[in-house]
Amino acid sequence: MTRRLLLSYLSLTIVILLGFGVSLGLTYASDQRQRAQRLFEREAAVLADLVEQDIRLKDYEDLPRLAAEYARLSDGRVLILDRQAKVLASAPESTTAALSDGEQRDLMTALAGGRATSMRDSVTLGTEVFSVAVPAASGGTTLGAVHLAAPTDEVTEAIHRVVVALAVGALAILGCVAGVGVALARWTTRPIRALENATDRLAGGVLDTPAATNIGPPELRRLAATFNHTAKRLQLLVEQQRGFAADASHQLRTPLTALRLRLENLEPDLAQSGQANLDAAITEIDRLADLVEQLLSLARLEEGGATPAVVDLDEVVAGRIANWTTPAGEQGVHIAVAGVPPGEVLAVPGTLEQILDNLLSNALRVAPRGSTITIDRRRLGRPGMPAVVGDVLLHVRDQGPGMSAEQRRLAFNRFWREPGAAKGGSGLGLAIVARLVQASGAHITLDDAPGGGLDAVIALRPARTEPVLSRLSQYRARHRHGLRERTPAVSASR
Ligand SMILES: Nc1ncnc2c1ncn2[C@@H]1O[C@H](COP(=O)(O)OP(=O)(O)O)[C@@H](O)[C@H]1O
Ligand SMILES: [Mg+2]
Repeated sequence: MTRRLLLSYLSLTIVILLGFGVSLGLTYASDQRQRAQRLFEREAAVLADLVEQDIRLKDYEDLPRLAAEYARLSDGRVLILDRQAKVLASAPESTTAALSDGEQRDLMTALAGGRATSMRDSVTLGTEVFSVAVPAASGGTTLGAVHLAAPTDEVTEAIHRVVVALAVGALAILGCVAGVGVALARWTTRPIRALENATDRLAGGVLDTPAATNIGPPELRRLAATFNHTAKRLQLLVEQQRGFAADASHQLRTPLTALRLRLENLEPDLAQSGQANLDAAITEIDRLADLVEQLLSLARLEEGGATPAVVDLDEVVAGRIANWTTPAGEQGVHIAVAGVPPGEVLAVPGTLEQILDNLLSNALRVAPRGSTITIDRRRLGRPGMPAVVGDVLLHVRDQGPGMSAEQRRLAFNRFWREPGAAKGGSGLGLAIVARLVQASGAHITLDDAPGGGLDAVIALRPARTEPVLSRLSQYRARHRHGLRERTPAVSASR
């Protein structure tokens, strides 16, 4: 921005300087030339007056001296002619033959009683000259003519000097404008940059460093003050919201647990006919507790702040399988693990467990009796290349009904549940999964599993770049890999 402001100042100055400078230079040049020309005209007229009497009396003796004197004075050339255009005197030594056509025309004009003034290239002087021809007349009768030609060098040099002075002046003005422009542009842009930094910090969730309000033009100072005020209010609101999330977690959890306990205690006193209603009420309470839990973890997630760290994916997978084996077994579903342990990945600690729990609970809800839920994880081989998201893939595949493209598109929306989906669940699970995956810098997609069912794929970034192996290590790695591939997928449950 500083550069753009400076450029606009400079271009404006250049336009103004060019406008003024050029017109000033042109006016000065034409004025100088006119003055010089008038001077020569006067000198020619004086000489014509002096020679007129000599020509009338045919006393030509003095003419060469006069011509030489005028030629020396004007540093040019002087010609004196009689009425028949015969040269009576010339200085320095030259003839009318050496006159250009234009100069001869000027002389003819003078002999005819007129005056001719011009600026033209001279053959004898070899330069641009002022050419003045005037008649030497007495009582209205033209007796002869005087021609004066003097180089324009002096005038041209004077004009050059002024042009150079104008150019130097213009450059000096430009330099000053550049200096003042830089200072002015910095003064204007510094607070804008400070405000931009403050906005960036605010966007990154840091609200405690205010923008400076004591630099730059008053308008920007006011803007910075307003910005700080807004940031402060935002900070207050965010803190209030955080407080609300923490409070609500305590306030809602306790009465729900108490309510469930009281309902359970009612059981012995209840007639058989009321039993079904009691079970339904307890299921609803469980659902409500689950909903509260999910909502709060979503609220905690929105607070942000968690950063990805190195997490052992193999350990997480083993832990989740151990957790889900029993509930899956009770439904006649077994959980299998496939692929190759990929080792450590980058993720926010604790999130992979929540992600797998949500995906496994969804899968188990739709898995038919006797089917298998497979956790497949593997590392794609890119030895020596920098680790990127997608180098490690984690699949949770089930053999349930799967989802249509439209359902998969909606599945990550909060509270979206397929109409007629099995009871239990809040529609928040996949929304939380998406948020957790995002916090870990990973990706999730829902695909069709081969042979039906849903395949949830999470693309993760490995913690380390895969090393480039020697030929021997490559052979060993392949061999080991081959052995693993032949081993049947570990069945965690029957
Ligand atoms: N593995 C799956 N197979 C088929 N449908 C699924 C699967 N996982 C999720 N869904 C559908 O997506 C909806 C949203 O899932 P989710 O966000 O986890 O909410 P909830 O589990 O609380 O219903 C589910 O209600 C279900 O209709
Ligand atoms: Mg769910």
